[in-house]
Amino acid sequence: MRYLTFALGKGRLAQQTLALFEEIGITCQEMKDPGSRKLIFVNEELKLRFFLAKGPDVPTYVEYGAADIGVVGKDTIMEEQRKLLEVLDLGFGKCRMCVCGPAQAKELLAHQEQIRVATKYPNIAKDYFYNRKNQTVEIIKLNGSIELAPIVGLSEVIVDIVETGSTLRENGLTVLEEVCPLSARVVVNQVSMKMENQRITRLLQDLNRVVQAREAENAKRGEQ
Ligand code: PRP
Repeated sequence: MRYLTFALGKGRLAQQTLALFEEIGITCQEMKDPGSRKLIFVNEELKLRFFLAKGPDVPTYVEYGAADIGVVGKDTIMEEQRKLLEVLDLGFGKCRMCVCGPAQAKELLAHQEQIRVATKYPNIAKDYFYNRKNQTVEIIKLNGSIELAPIVGLSEVIVDIVETGSTLRENGLTVLEEVCPLSARVVVNQVSMKMENQRITRLLQDLNRVVQAREAENAKRGEQ
């Protein structure tokens, strides 16, 4: 049996993914050591390998088959536009991709003005403004702290992730339009899906069962 290799996006998503894997009996003790500088972790018994990568690199590893399976945010999948199969919504890491700015920028959006849009996600912003809204804008790529851009006059609006909304609130900005909801997704290499179909399908079914149970539990709690 060959190893199935997983690429996980570093950070919060990876921790939640490992917790989910534990629920279906997949553990990787080595990976939990925060002091470790190791890059790749092996579960010999189940013939699984895991590595952590920068989020935007996960779809690249999966497209080229260096990883069979990846776990990464929907935002990254949309932005990277790689050839892969998106097979499961894990239901965590929920947030929204939004157009944000000062409240008065709403007028500029409504009147289809030529505006500047700062973002870490130029492909998502381009698709939203050009294809969905038919609005010509100038897109400025930034690498972080996107909320700064409208405050210091680099752009009129931003396209960015909103989770709790507190970064926006604390900086006098607001959600102007919603682009799409986001969450963590499982992606699979197209060839791996054919060659290792049974193992991957079984794994996805197990994961899906836990995800469904969690959602039912959340819904029940919501009703109470
Ligand atoms: C993300 C995002 C927002 C913030 C949203 O930034 O770009 O800035 O989180 O979260 P909130 O709605 O809960 O405030 P991140 O922390 O990933 O850092 P970055 O600014 O470097 O992208």
